[in-house]
Amino acid sequence: MKFLITAGPTREPIDPVRYLTNRSSGRMGYALAGAARHDGHEVLLISGPTTLDVPPGVDFIPVETAQQMYEAVRDMLRGVDVAILCAAVADYRPVSCADQKIKKNADTLVLELERTPDILGSMRSEFGFTGKLIGFAAETQNIIEYGRDKLQRKQCDMIVANDVSQPGIGFDSRENAVVLIYPDHEEYLERDTKEHIAMQIIEHATILPS
Ligand code: C5P
Repeated sequence: MKFLITAGPTREPIDPVRYLTNRSSGRMGYALAGAARHDGHEVLLISGPTTLDVPPGVDFIPVETAQQMYEAVRDMLRGVDVAILCAAVADYRPVSCADQKIKKNADTLVLELERTPDILGSMRSEFGFTGKLIGFAAETQNIIEYGRDKLQRKQCDMIVANDVSQPGIGFDSRENAVVLIYPDHEEYLERDTKEHIAMQIIEHATILPS
């Protein structure tokens, strides 16, 4: 099978030396890419900036902004059987990027932000993707309810949801504990390393019902 996986944070420029980003380490997405490759699949990883090494045998497209990730995913979907969108894409970006470094003059500074393109939400409606689609959901409350809502709105086959309010798992950590949300049931994957969680997610992804 051919997998496309997004990972990491995005960086949204404010001026030539500053940007908006988040705490995503990229570990979950890189672990998914490694696990899929280990199982013999063809894997394309599209990632925002991280400090991680690309797993051996995995094709790689580095990006910085949400817009670049959107375009890379859109342009690389041909032949993809399973898309796993794991990246922590910035929801907002500065409306414009200053040409020069912003000087500190006034006591306060207002940044005007606008929504970034919703990559997961564009997969079916804009890109016409017909393969298996897996999204991630990081929530701090009502995990199942929000996850199931996302599953339907974004026409996914499965949502991997995690509770980011729990210390030591999820964002910027080595371990995770997730719930796999299907249209008609849920399955809990107990706390484990992201590598072990990734292996289980890939197994579930390859046997998704059509
Ligand atoms: O709605 P929310 O941002 O919580 O959804 C998270 C899921 O959507 C993740 O799978 C993430 O990779 C994806 N996403 C996306 N494009 C965005 C924002 C999130 O693909 N602009």
